[in-house]
Amino acid sequence: MSCLNIMVYIASVEAFTVDGIIIKGGLKLQGEISIQGSKNSVLPIMAASILNSGITVISNCPRISDVWDMTELLKDIGCIVEFEDNTLIIDSKDVYKTEIDNALAEKIRASVVLLGPLLARFGHAKMSRPGGCNIGSRPIDIHLAAFEKMNAVCLERDNKVYVESTKLTGANISLAYPSVGATENIILAAVFAEGTTEIHNAATEPEVVELCQCLVGMGSRILGIGSDNLKIIGVESLRDIEYQIRPDRIVMGTYLCACMSAGGEISLKNCSISDGVGYVDVLCGMGAMLRCENDSIIIKSDRRIQAINYIQTNPYPGFPTDMQSIFMSVLSKAEGTSIIEETIFNKRLELASQLKKMGANVDVLKNKAIITGVDYMKGTTVTAKDLRGGAALVIAGLGAEGITTIEDPFYIKRGYVDICSDLKKLGADIKWEKANQEKEKVILK
Ligand code: UD1
Repeated sequence: MSCLNIMVYIASVEAFTVDGIIIKGGLKLQGEISIQGSKNSVLPIMAASILNSGITVISNCPRISDVWDMTELLKDIGCIVEFEDNTLIIDSKDVYKTEIDNALAEKIRASVVLLGPLLARFGHAKMSRPGGCNIGSRPIDIHLAAFEKMNAVCLERDNKVYVESTKLTGANISLAYPSVGATENIILAAVFAEGTTEIHNAATEPEVVELCQCLVGMGSRILGIGSDNLKIIGVESLRDIEYQIRPDRIVMGTYLCACMSAGGEISLKNCSISDGVGYVDVLCGMGAMLRCENDSIIIKSDRRIQAINYIQTNPYPGFPTDMQSIFMSVLSKAEGTSIIEETIFNKRLELASQLKKMGANVDVLKNKAIITGVDYMKGTTVTAKDLRGGAALVIAGLGAEGITTIEDPFYIKRGYVDICSDLKKLGADIKWEKANQEKEKVILK
Protein backbone atom coordinates (compact mmCIF):
# COMPACT_ATOMS: atom_id res chain seq x y z
CA MET A 1 0.00 0.00 0.00
CA SER A 2 1.48 3.39 -0.96
CA CYS A 3 0.52 7.03 -1.18
CA LEU A 4 0.52 6.66 -4.92
CA ASN A 5 -2.33 4.22 -4.61
CA ILE A 6 -4.25 7.16 -3.22
CA MET A 7 -4.73 5.32 0.01
CA VAL A 8 -5.19 7.92 2.63
CA TYR A 9 -5.14 7.21 6.31
CA ILE A 10 -7.13 9.59 8.34
CA ALA A 11 -6.57 9.24 12.00
CA SER A 12 -9.40 10.43 14.10
CA VAL A 13 -9.23 10.54 17.83
CA GLU A 14 -12.50 9.71 19.47
CA ALA A 15 -12.63 10.58 23.11
CA PHE A 16 -15.12 8.67 25.14
CA THR A 17 -15.86 8.48 28.80
CA VAL A 18 -16.36 5.42 30.91
CA ASP A 19 -18.34 6.21 34.02
CA GLY A 20 -18.82 4.05 37.06
CA ILE A 21 -19.87 4.28 40.69
CA ILE A 22 -17.54 2.86 43.30
CA ILE A 23 -18.79 2.02 46.78
CA LYS A 24 -16.86 0.71 49.73
CA GLY A 25 -19.56 -0.98 51.78
CA GLY A 26 -20.01 -1.40 55.49
CA LEU A 27 -20.27 2.17 56.78
CA LYS A 28 -23.34 3.16 58.76
CA LEU A 29 -25.27 6.22 57.58
CA GLN A 30 -25.84 9.31 59.65
CA GLY A 31 -26.96 12.88 58.92
CA GLU A 32 -29.58 14.79 56.97
CA ILE A 33 -30.35 15.39 53.29
CA SER A 34 -33.22 17.01 51.37
CA ILE A 35 -35.41 15.07 48.98
CA GLN A 36 -35.40 16.41 45.40
CA GLY A 37 -38.51 17.25 43.36
CA SER A 38 -40.37 14.42 41.65
CA LYS A 39 -39.22 13.23 38.23
CA ASN A 40 -42.55 11.71 37.27
CA SER A 41 -44.38 14.91 38.25
CA VAL A 42 -42.17 17.40 36.50
CA LEU A 43 -42.09 15.64 33.11
CA PRO A 44 -45.87 15.79 32.33
CA ILE A 45 -46.02 19.31 33.79
CA MET A 46 -43.27 20.33 31.37
CA ALA A 47 -45.45 18.87 28.59
CA ALA A 48 -48.47 20.78 29.95
CA SER A 49 -46.54 24.03 29.46
CA ILE A 50 -47.30 23.76 25.73
CA LEU A 51 -50.98 24.40 26.47
CA ASN A 52 -50.87 27.94 27.88
CA SER A 53 -48.97 29.45 24.92
CA GLY A 54 -47.19 31.52 27.56
CA ILE A 55 -44.91 31.25 30.56
CA THR A 56 -44.74 28.28 32.97
CA VAL A 57 -42.41 28.56 35.94
CA ILE A 58 -41.63 25.26 37.66
CA SER A 59 -39.74 25.39 40.96
CA ASN A 60 -38.11 22.54 42.89
CA CYS A 61 -37.35 20.98 39.52
CA PRO A 62 -34.80 18.14 39.83
CA ARG A 63 -31.64 18.58 37.75
CA ILE A 64 -31.72 15.07 36.22
CA SER A 65 -31.03 13.82 32.72
CA ASP A 66 -34.72 13.06 31.96
CA VAL A 67 -35.42 16.76 32.57
CA TRP A 68 -32.56 17.73 30.22
CA ASP A 69 -33.98 15.40 27.57
CA MET A 70 -37.51 16.81 27.96
CA THR A 71 -36.00 20.32 27.78
CA GLU A 72 -34.37 19.42 24.46
CA LEU A 73 -37.69 18.08 23.16
CA LEU A 74 -39.48 21.30 24.09
CA LYS A 75 -36.75 23.50 22.59
CA ASP A 76 -36.87 21.48 19.39
CA ILE A 77 -40.55 22.32 18.85
CA GLY A 78 -39.99 26.03 19.55
CA CYS A 79 -40.17 26.58 23.32
CA ILE A 80 -37.67 28.85 25.01
CA VAL A 81 -36.45 27.06 28.13
CA GLU A 82 -34.23 28.45 30.86
CA PHE A 83 -32.96 26.95 34.11
CA GLU A 84 -32.16 29.14 37.11
CA ASP A 85 -30.91 27.01 40.02
CA ASN A 86 -33.82 24.61 40.53
CA THR A 87 -36.38 26.69 38.68
CA LEU A 88 -37.35 25.94 35.12
CA ILE A 89 -38.92 28.68 33.01
CA ILE A 90 -40.67 27.62 29.82
CA ASP A 91 -42.06 30.04 27.23
CA SER A 92 -44.26 28.10 24.82
CA LYS A 93 -45.68 31.09 22.89
CA ASP A 94 -43.78 30.33 19.69
CA VAL A 95 -44.15 26.57 19.41
CA TYR A 96 -44.18 26.00 15.65
CA LYS A 97 -43.55 22.30 15.20
CA THR A 98 -45.75 19.30 15.98
CA GLU A 99 -43.37 16.64 14.75
CA ILE A 100 -41.23 15.51 17.65
CA ASP A 101 -37.59 14.71 16.97
CA ASN A 102 -37.21 10.92 16.69
CA ALA A 103 -33.86 10.55 18.40
CA LEU A 104 -35.00 12.67 21.34
CA ALA A 105 -38.37 10.91 21.67
CA GLU A 106 -36.62 7.56 21.80
CA LYS A 107 -34.55 8.69 24.78
CA ILE A 108 -37.36 9.04 27.34
CA ARG A 109 -40.69 7.37 27.90
CA ALA A 110 -42.29 10.61 29.04
CA SER A 111 -41.95 11.99 25.50
CA VAL A 112 -45.30 10.26 24.84
CA VAL A 113 -47.14 12.83 26.97
CA LEU A 114 -46.30 15.51 24.39
CA LEU A 115 -48.91 13.96 22.10
CA GLY A 116 -51.87 15.10 24.24
CA PRO A 117 -50.96 18.81 24.51
CA LEU A 118 -49.86 19.09 20.86
CA LEU A 119 -53.12 17.47 19.75
CA ALA A 120 -55.08 19.85 22.00
CA ARG A 121 -53.30 23.02 20.82
CA PHE A 122 -52.61 22.28 17.14
CA GLY A 123 -54.90 19.37 16.22
CA HIS A 124 -52.05 17.08 15.20
CA ALA A 125 -48.75 15.54 16.34
CA LYS A 126 -46.25 13.00 15.10
CA MET A 127 -43.46 11.16 16.88
CA SER A 128 -41.56 7.91 16.92
CA ARG A 129 -42.47 5.40 19.60
CA PRO A 130 -41.28 6.63 22.99
CA GLY A 131 -38.18 5.16 24.59
CA GLY A 132 -37.09 4.98 28.22
CA CYS A 133 -35.72 2.21 30.41
CA ASN A 134 -36.02 -1.32 29.07
CA ILE A 135 -38.16 -2.65 31.93
CA GLY A 136 -40.77 -4.60 29.96
CA SER A 137 -43.27 -4.07 27.19
CA ARG A 138 -44.47 -0.48 26.99
CA PRO A 139 -47.33 -0.23 24.46
CA ILE A 140 -49.38 2.95 24.01
CA ASP A 141 -52.62 1.36 22.81
CA ILE A 142 -54.60 2.75 25.77
CA HIS A 143 -53.45 6.31 24.96
CA LEU A 144 -54.42 5.99 21.30
CA ALA A 145 -57.77 4.28 21.92
CA ALA A 146 -58.72 7.19 24.19
CA PHE A 147 -57.69 9.82 21.63
CA GLU A 148 -59.84 8.02 19.07
CA LYS A 149 -62.83 8.21 21.41
CA MET A 150 -62.20 11.96 21.53
CA ASN A 151 -62.57 12.17 17.76
CA ALA A 152 -58.92 11.88 16.78
CA VAL A 153 -57.48 9.65 14.10
CA CYS A 154 -54.43 7.69 15.22
CA LEU A 155 -52.00 5.74 13.09
CA GLU A 156 -49.02 3.64 14.11
CA ARG A 157 -46.74 2.88 11.17
CA ASP A 158 -43.00 2.17 10.76
CA ASN A 159 -42.43 2.69 14.48
CA LYS A 160 -44.05 6.14 14.19
CA VAL A 161 -47.24 7.46 15.75
CA TYR A 162 -49.51 10.04 14.10
CA VAL A 163 -52.48 11.65 15.82
CA GLU A 164 -54.83 14.15 14.23
CA SER A 165 -58.21 15.73 14.90
CA THR A 166 -60.14 18.54 13.29
CA LYS A 167 -62.06 18.99 16.54
CA LEU A 168 -61.40 17.13 19.77
CA THR A 169 -64.61 16.40 21.63
CA GLY A 170 -65.25 15.26 25.19
CA ALA A 171 -65.89 11.54 25.61
CA ASN A 172 -66.68 8.90 28.17
CA ILE A 173 -63.51 6.83 28.46
CA SER A 174 -63.06 3.67 30.54
CA LEU A 175 -59.45 2.60 30.77
CA ALA A 176 -58.70 -1.10 30.41
CA TYR A 177 -55.85 -0.51 32.90
CA PRO A 178 -55.17 2.59 35.05
CA SER A 179 -52.11 3.60 33.02
CA VAL A 180 -50.32 6.63 34.45
CA GLY A 181 -49.11 7.93 31.09
CA ALA A 182 -52.45 7.35 29.34
CA THR A 183 -54.38 9.13 32.12
CA GLU A 184 -51.99 12.09 31.84
CA ASN A 185 -52.19 12.18 28.05
CA ILE A 186 -56.01 12.11 28.06
CA ILE A 187 -56.20 14.90 30.66
CA LEU A 188 -53.78 17.00 28.59
CA ALA A 189 -55.72 16.39 25.38
CA ALA A 190 -59.07 17.08 27.06
CA VAL A 191 -58.20 20.53 28.42
CA PHE A 192 -59.47 22.32 25.26
CA ALA A 193 -61.84 19.61 23.99
CA GLU A 194 -65.44 20.59 23.34
CA GLY A 195 -67.62 19.43 26.25
CA THR A 196 -66.69 17.11 29.09
CA THR A 197 -64.28 14.19 29.09
CA GLU A 198 -64.80 11.54 31.75
CA ILE A 199 -62.05 9.07 32.59
CA HIS A 200 -63.11 5.95 34.49
CA ASN A 201 -60.51 3.69 36.07
CA ALA A 202 -58.04 6.58 35.87
CA ALA A 203 -54.60 6.28 37.48
CA THR A 204 -54.57 7.93 40.91
CA GLU A 205 -50.78 8.22 41.37
CA PRO A 206 -49.66 11.41 43.15
CA GLU A 207 -47.98 12.51 39.91
CA VAL A 208 -51.37 12.48 38.13
CA VAL A 209 -52.79 14.53 41.00
CA GLU A 210 -49.94 17.05 40.66
CA LEU A 211 -50.55 17.39 36.93
CA CYS A 212 -54.25 18.08 37.61
CA GLN A 213 -53.45 20.62 40.33
CA CYS A 214 -51.02 22.43 38.06
CA LEU A 215 -53.55 22.48 35.20
CA VAL A 216 -56.28 23.81 37.52
CA GLY A 217 -53.85 26.58 38.53
CA MET A 218 -53.50 27.36 34.80
CA GLY A 219 -57.31 27.63 34.46
CA SER A 220 -58.40 24.10 33.54
CA ARG A 221 -61.61 22.68 35.00
CA ILE A 222 -60.97 19.22 36.46
CA LEU A 223 -63.24 17.44 38.93
CA GLY A 224 -62.58 14.31 40.98
CA ILE A 225 -58.83 14.95 41.39
CA GLY A 226 -57.23 12.09 43.33
CA SER A 227 -60.06 9.67 42.51
CA ASP A 228 -60.22 7.15 39.68
CA ASN A 229 -63.10 9.04 38.08
CA LEU A 230 -61.95 12.29 36.53
CA LYS A 231 -64.04 14.88 34.69
CA ILE A 232 -62.30 17.43 32.50
CA ILE A 233 -64.53 20.25 31.28
CA GLY A 234 -63.07 21.88 28.19
CA VAL A 235 -62.01 25.55 28.42
CA GLU A 236 -60.98 28.09 25.76
CA SER A 237 -57.53 29.02 27.01
CA LEU A 238 -55.08 28.74 29.92
CA ARG A 239 -52.98 31.30 31.80
CA ASP A 240 -49.37 31.47 33.02
CA ILE A 241 -48.47 29.70 36.24
CA GLU A 242 -45.76 29.27 38.86
CA TYR A 243 -45.85 25.75 40.25
CA GLN A 244 -43.70 24.00 42.86
CA ILE A 245 -42.98 20.29 42.34
CA ARG A 246 -43.57 17.97 45.29
CA PRO A 247 -40.84 15.70 46.67
CA ASP A 248 -39.98 12.54 44.79
CA ARG A 249 -41.57 9.64 46.67
CA ILE A 250 -39.35 7.08 44.95
CA VAL A 251 -36.13 8.94 45.80
CA MET A 252 -37.40 9.19 49.38
CA GLY A 253 -37.96 5.42 49.43
CA THR A 254 -34.52 4.81 47.92
CA TYR A 255 -32.79 6.65 50.76
CA LEU A 256 -34.97 4.98 53.41
CA CYS A 257 -33.83 1.66 51.92
CA ALA A 258 -30.22 2.89 51.86
CA CYS A 259 -30.44 3.23 55.64
CA MET A 260 -31.99 -0.24 55.95
CA SER A 261 -29.11 -1.71 53.96
CA ALA A 262 -26.24 0.20 55.60
CA GLY A 263 -27.74 0.68 59.07
CA GLY A 264 -27.61 3.95 61.04
CA GLU A 265 -29.97 6.87 61.52
CA ILE A 266 -30.74 9.50 58.89
CA SER A 267 -33.16 12.35 58.44
CA LEU A 268 -34.83 13.10 55.11
CA LYS A 269 -36.04 16.68 54.82
CA ASN A 270 -38.82 18.03 52.62
CA CYS A 271 -41.02 14.91 52.68
CA SER A 272 -43.48 13.07 54.89
CA ILE A 273 -44.64 9.53 55.66
CA SER A 274 -47.73 10.11 53.51
CA ASP A 275 -45.43 10.34 50.46
CA GLY A 276 -44.56 6.69 51.06
CA VAL A 277 -48.03 5.22 50.53
CA GLY A 278 -47.73 1.59 49.45
CA TYR A 279 -44.22 0.91 50.72
CA VAL A 280 -43.67 2.60 54.11
CA ASP A 281 -45.81 0.00 55.88
CA VAL A 282 -43.77 -2.76 54.21
CA LEU A 283 -40.58 -1.08 55.39
CA CYS A 284 -41.90 -1.04 58.97
CA GLY A 285 -42.70 -4.75 58.67
CA MET A 286 -39.04 -5.26 57.69
CA GLY A 287 -37.91 -3.65 60.94
CA ALA A 288 -37.46 0.03 60.02
CA MET A 289 -38.01 2.47 62.88
CA LEU A 290 -39.58 5.59 61.44
CA ARG A 291 -40.71 8.87 62.94
CA CYS A 292 -41.76 12.28 61.62
CA GLU A 293 -40.46 15.67 62.77
CA ASN A 294 -41.79 18.82 61.09
CA ASP A 295 -41.14 18.32 57.39
CA SER A 296 -38.69 15.43 57.87
CA ILE A 297 -38.75 11.65 58.23
CA ILE A 298 -36.19 10.04 60.47
CA ILE A 299 -35.30 6.39 59.97
CA LYS A 300 -33.21 4.22 62.25
CA SER A 301 -32.01 0.75 61.34
CA ASP A 302 -29.76 -1.76 63.07
CA ARG A 303 -29.27 -3.67 59.78
CA ARG A 304 -31.46 -6.54 61.02
CA ILE A 305 -34.02 -6.93 58.25
CA GLN A 306 -37.10 -9.13 58.50
CA ALA A 307 -38.27 -10.98 55.41
CA ILE A 308 -41.70 -10.11 53.98
CA ASN A 309 -43.89 -13.04 52.97
CA TYR A 310 -45.36 -11.49 49.88
CA ILE A 311 -45.15 -8.19 48.04
CA GLN A 312 -47.12 -7.57 44.86
CA THR A 313 -46.57 -4.45 42.76
CA ASN A 314 -49.79 -2.64 41.92
CA PRO A 315 -51.11 0.72 40.75
CA TYR A 316 -51.40 3.39 43.45
CA PRO A 317 -52.07 3.04 46.37
CA GLY A 318 -50.48 -0.41 46.03
CA PHE A 319 -46.80 -1.22 46.32
CA PRO A 320 -45.10 0.84 43.56
CA THR A 321 -43.25 -1.00 40.80
CA ASP A 322 -40.62 1.74 40.93
CA MET A 323 -39.67 0.57 44.46
CA GLN A 324 -39.58 -3.12 43.58
CA SER A 325 -35.90 -3.48 42.61
CA ILE A 326 -34.81 -1.43 45.59
CA PHE A 327 -36.75 -3.67 47.98
CA MET A 328 -35.38 -6.78 46.27
CA SER A 329 -31.93 -5.46 47.04
CA VAL A 330 -32.67 -4.87 50.75
CA LEU A 331 -34.54 -8.16 51.17
CA SER A 332 -31.52 -10.04 49.82
CA LYS A 333 -30.04 -9.68 53.30
CA ALA A 334 -33.23 -10.29 55.29
CA GLU A 335 -33.76 -13.02 57.86
CA GLY A 336 -35.96 -15.52 56.01
CA THR A 337 -37.53 -15.81 52.58
CA SER A 338 -39.50 -13.10 50.79
CA ILE A 339 -41.54 -13.26 47.60
CA ILE A 340 -42.04 -10.34 45.26
CA GLU A 341 -44.53 -10.54 42.40
CA GLU A 342 -44.01 -7.93 39.68
CA THR A 343 -47.30 -7.34 37.86
CA ILE A 344 -46.42 -4.20 35.88
CA PHE A 345 -42.90 -4.28 34.35
CA ASN A 346 -41.60 -7.86 34.60
CA LYS A 347 -38.16 -7.17 33.11
CA ARG A 348 -37.37 -5.38 36.34
CA LEU A 349 -36.79 -8.79 37.92
CA GLU A 350 -33.63 -9.13 35.80
CA LEU A 351 -31.89 -7.25 38.60
CA ALA A 352 -31.68 -10.65 40.32
CA SER A 353 -28.78 -11.73 38.10
CA GLN A 354 -26.70 -8.72 39.21
CA LEU A 355 -27.54 -9.23 42.89
CA LYS A 356 -26.56 -12.90 42.56
CA LYS A 357 -23.07 -11.80 41.50
CA MET A 358 -22.84 -10.12 44.90
CA GLY A 359 -23.85 -13.31 46.69
CA ALA A 360 -27.63 -12.86 46.90
CA ASN A 361 -29.89 -15.90 46.69
CA VAL A 362 -32.72 -14.86 44.37
CA ASP A 363 -34.66 -17.21 42.09
CA VAL A 364 -36.93 -15.79 39.42
CA LEU A 365 -39.92 -17.86 38.32
CA LYS A 366 -41.99 -16.10 35.68
CA ASN A 367 -42.95 -12.79 37.29
CA LYS A 368 -42.01 -13.75 40.83
CA ALA A 369 -38.72 -13.40 42.68
CA ILE A 370 -38.07 -15.72 45.61
CA ILE A 371 -35.47 -14.08 47.80
CA THR A 372 -33.79 -16.16 50.48
CA GLY A 373 -31.89 -13.77 52.71
CA VAL A 374 -28.13 -14.26 53.10
CA ASP A 375 -25.93 -13.10 55.98
CA TYR A 376 -23.56 -11.12 53.87
CA MET A 377 -23.04 -9.94 50.32
CA LYS A 378 -19.72 -9.11 48.76
CA GLY A 379 -18.72 -6.23 46.52
CA THR A 380 -17.94 -6.96 42.88
CA THR A 381 -18.48 -5.39 39.45
CA VAL A 382 -22.15 -5.19 38.49
CA THR A 383 -24.03 -3.42 35.72
CA ALA A 384 -27.01 -1.08 35.94
CA LYS A 385 -29.65 -2.09 33.36
CA ASP A 386 -32.26 0.56 34.19
CA LEU A 387 -32.83 3.52 36.47
CA ARG A 388 -34.30 1.87 39.59
CA GLY A 389 -32.28 -1.32 39.10
CA GLY A 390 -29.16 0.87 39.12
CA ALA A 391 -30.21 2.55 42.36
CA ALA A 392 -30.91 -0.90 43.82
CA LEU A 393 -27.30 -1.90 43.12
CA VAL A 394 -26.10 1.21 44.98
CA ILE A 395 -28.22 0.12 47.96
CA ALA A 396 -26.76 -3.39 47.77
CA GLY A 397 -23.22 -1.97 47.61
CA LEU A 398 -23.74 0.05 50.80
CA GLY A 399 -24.51 -3.11 52.76
CA ALA A 400 -21.96 -5.39 51.05
CA GLU A 401 -18.45 -6.19 52.20
CA GLY A 402 -15.65 -4.70 50.10
CA ILE A 403 -15.79 -2.71 46.89
CA THR A 404 -18.78 -2.64 44.54
CA THR A 405 -18.29 -1.09 41.10
CA ILE A 406 -21.45 -0.21 39.18
CA GLU A 407 -21.06 0.07 35.43
CA ASP A 408 -23.40 2.09 33.20
CA PRO A 409 -24.56 4.39 36.01
CA PHE A 410 -25.91 6.93 33.51
CA TYR A 411 -29.28 5.22 34.01
CA ILE A 412 -29.25 6.43 37.60
CA LYS A 413 -28.72 10.02 36.46
CA ARG A 414 -32.09 9.82 34.72
CA GLY A 415 -33.84 10.07 38.08
CA TYR A 416 -31.42 11.05 40.87
CA VAL A 417 -29.82 14.50 40.96
CA ASP A 418 -26.62 13.14 42.53
CA ILE A 419 -26.97 9.87 44.41
CA CYS A 420 -23.26 9.79 45.26
CA SER A 421 -23.18 13.27 46.76
CA ASP A 422 -26.37 12.58 48.80
CA LEU A 423 -25.01 9.33 50.23
CA LYS A 424 -21.57 10.84 50.82
CA LYS A 425 -23.24 13.54 52.92
CA LEU A 426 -24.72 10.69 54.96
CA GLY A 427 -21.28 9.19 55.53
CA ALA A 428 -21.11 6.54 52.80
CA ASP A 429 -17.85 5.84 50.99
CA ILE A 430 -19.09 6.32 47.44
CA LYS A 431 -17.87 8.18 44.36
CA TRP A 432 -18.36 8.59 40.65
CA GLU A 433 -15.49 7.22 38.68
CA LYS A 434 -14.63 8.97 35.47
CA ALA A 435 -12.16 7.25 33.22
CA ASN A 436 -11.31 9.25 30.14
CA GLN A 437 -9.88 7.08 27.48
CA GLU A 438 -8.76 7.98 24.06
CA LYS A 439 -9.30 5.56 21.30
CA GLU A 440 -7.51 6.04 18.02
CA LYS A 441 -9.53 5.08 15.04
CA VAL A 442 -7.78 4.73 11.75
CA ILE A 443 -10.10 5.01 8.84
CA LEU A 444 -8.87 3.68 5.56
CA LYS A 445 -10.19 5.50 2.56
C1 UD1 B 1 -45.19 5.63 34.70
C2 UD1 B 1 -43.90 6.06 35.36
C3 UD1 B 1 -43.09 4.84 35.76
C4 UD1 B 1 -43.92 3.92 36.62
C5 UD1 B 1 -45.24 3.58 35.95
C6 UD1 B 1 -46.17 2.75 36.82
C7 UD1 B 1 -43.40 8.17 34.25
C8 UD1 B 1 -42.50 8.92 33.33
N1 UD1 B 1 -43.14 6.86 34.40
O1 UD1 B 1 -44.84 4.93 33.51
O2 UD1 B 1 -41.94 5.30 36.49
O3 UD1 B 1 -43.18 2.72 36.83
O4 UD1 B 1 -45.92 4.79 35.60
O5 UD1 B 1 -46.39 3.39 38.01
O6 UD1 B 1 -44.29 8.72 34.86
N2 UD1 B 1 -49.78 -0.26 29.36
C9 UD1 B 1 -50.43 -0.80 28.27
N3 UD1 B 1 -50.89 0.05 27.30
C10 UD1 B 1 -50.73 1.40 27.38
C11 UD1 B 1 -50.07 1.94 28.49
C12 UD1 B 1 -49.62 1.08 29.46
O7 UD1 B 1 -50.59 -2.02 28.15
O8 UD1 B 1 -51.18 2.11 26.46
C13 UD1 B 1 -49.26 -1.16 30.42
C14 UD1 B 1 -47.74 -1.13 30.53
O9 UD1 B 1 -47.14 -2.05 29.64
C15 UD1 B 1 -47.51 -1.49 31.96
C16 UD1 B 1 -48.72 -0.90 32.67
O10 UD1 B 1 -49.71 -0.68 31.67
O11 UD1 B 1 -47.51 -2.89 32.13
C17 UD1 B 1 -48.43 0.38 33.42
O12 UD1 B 1 -47.93 1.35 32.54
P1 UD1 B 1 -48.16 2.92 32.79
O13 UD1 B 1 -48.93 3.13 34.03
O14 UD1 B 1 -48.67 3.50 31.53
O15 UD1 B 1 -46.67 3.39 33.05
P2 UD1 B 1 -45.95 4.64 32.41
O16 UD1 B 1 -46.88 5.79 32.32
O17 UD1 B 1 -45.21 4.21 31.18
